[in-house]
Amino acid sequence: QGTPVNIIVGSQVWLEDPDEAWVDGEVTGIKGADVTVATTNGKTVVASLASIYPKDTEAPPAGVDDMTKLAYLHEPGVLHNLACRYGLNEIYTYTGNILIAVNPFQRLPHLYDVHMMEQYKGATFGELSPHLFAIADSCYRAMINEHGSQSILVSGESGAGKTETTKMLMRYLAFMGGRSGTEGRTVEQQVLESNPVLEAFGNAKTVKNNNSSRFGKFVEIQFDKYGKISGAAVRTYLLERSRVCQVSDPERNYHCFYMLCSAPPEDVKRFKVGNPRSFHYLNQTSCYEVANVDDAREYLETRNAMDIVGISQEEQDAIFRVVAAILHLGNINFSKGKEIDSSRLRDEKSINHLKIVAELLMCDEKLLEDSLCQRVIVTPDGNITKPLDPDSALQSRDALAKTVYSRLFDW
Ligand SMILES: Nc1ncnc2c1ncn2[C@@H]1O[C@H](COP(=O)(O)OP(=O)(O)OP(=O)(O)O)[C@@H](O)[C@H]1O
Ligand SMILES: [Mg+2]
Repeated sequence: QGTPVNIIVGSQVWLEDPDEAWVDGEVTGIKGADVTVATTNGKTVVASLASIYPKDTEAPPAGVDDMTKLAYLHEPGVLHNLACRYGLNEIYTYTGNILIAVNPFQRLPHLYDVHMMEQYKGATFGELSPHLFAIADSCYRAMINEHGSQSILVSGESGAGKTETTKMLMRYLAFMGGRSGTEGRTVEQQVLESNPVLEAFGNAKTVKNNNSSRFGKFVEIQFDKYGKISGAAVRTYLLERSRVCQVSDPERNYHCFYMLCSAPPEDVKRFKVGNPRSFHYLNQTSCYEVANVDDAREYLETRNAMDIVGISQEEQDAIFRVVAAILHLGNINFSKGKEIDSSRLRDEKSINHLKIVAELLMCDEKLLEDSLCQRVIVTPDGNITKPLDPDSALQSRDALAKTVYSRLFDW
């Protein structure tokens, strides 16, 4: 692709630019391997012949909807085409049967409404403008026609739009495979509502994305022989555990912690939480709020989604007890104990937090304290209990918080 085919004086070319990524221009002179280019932004640049790319002068100004239609498939050509389309609010472009989506960073409801789904339903691939519904539809039809499993891979860097795209794909498949008129909670509703639950516990605000998924997931939707949804399973992988105990500006911990702190007063009281600024696991960063996100509302929505997914009230309460316990666990501190290299709870506050953790987790206070301040070493001759110094106790506190949280997430 990098072959500098037929570049002569007068050729239209692309060349790399430190500010603009790529600029176009016209070759005004060639001397050995050096080319002089007059760029369209008014500069004269000398570049090596190997670093410039020919520009497709016949490409339509509005871009092409399939990149395979480009005369040259090189980086500047691809980016220029995507930029042209993005400028016209066309966020989807094909490269053969691959769909490229450019994050619009604004809601485009008309693009995903039922009317749109109707249009793509059964349409020949490539007949309508590029769209993720076309991908989902061809996938659905291939499954029906070939009686085999199909999969869609969604990839991209953080903030690219994978989670949003996956939700839309799931919505389309639920639309195609939904049953009308069934009572109560339908499978497709449950499939869709699993998203807010997962996001509450597995997403957090990061530098790149206010709703960044800190885990990988594999969503499986099962269909019966009539093409209707019969079941679903979501498998998650590799949750970022360190975030539970360690966050820095301008990032946040997992959404669920802030949601619980903004819960209705009776829940705040019941779960013994309060201002997020009072918890060590949350106050290491000065970021508590996310633009356009109302944690109080999200709490109620998460509860509602949990209802739909089929998590009972008791289970929900148990889940939030664990979330609250982790916050209190983080506020337990240690100081040097009587013996060398041992530790004890630092003050009245720590003792209090330990009490609350034990209460929330329904475990014995003394055993919990021991498990933080001591280490049990298993030897062939039996178990040896060794006290931990304050630093190690702190580490075992954080390890417990991470383990409990990731177990909760996996559940
Ligand atoms: N199709 C879309 N329409 C409107 N907004 C979108 C779309 N895709 C993405 N966004 C916006 O971009 C943000 C980031 O997208 P998303 O969370 O899907 O990224 P991601 O690829 O899952 O990132 P991460 O790897 O960090 O989880 C969304 O919160 C949303 O505001
Ligand atoms: Mg994501």
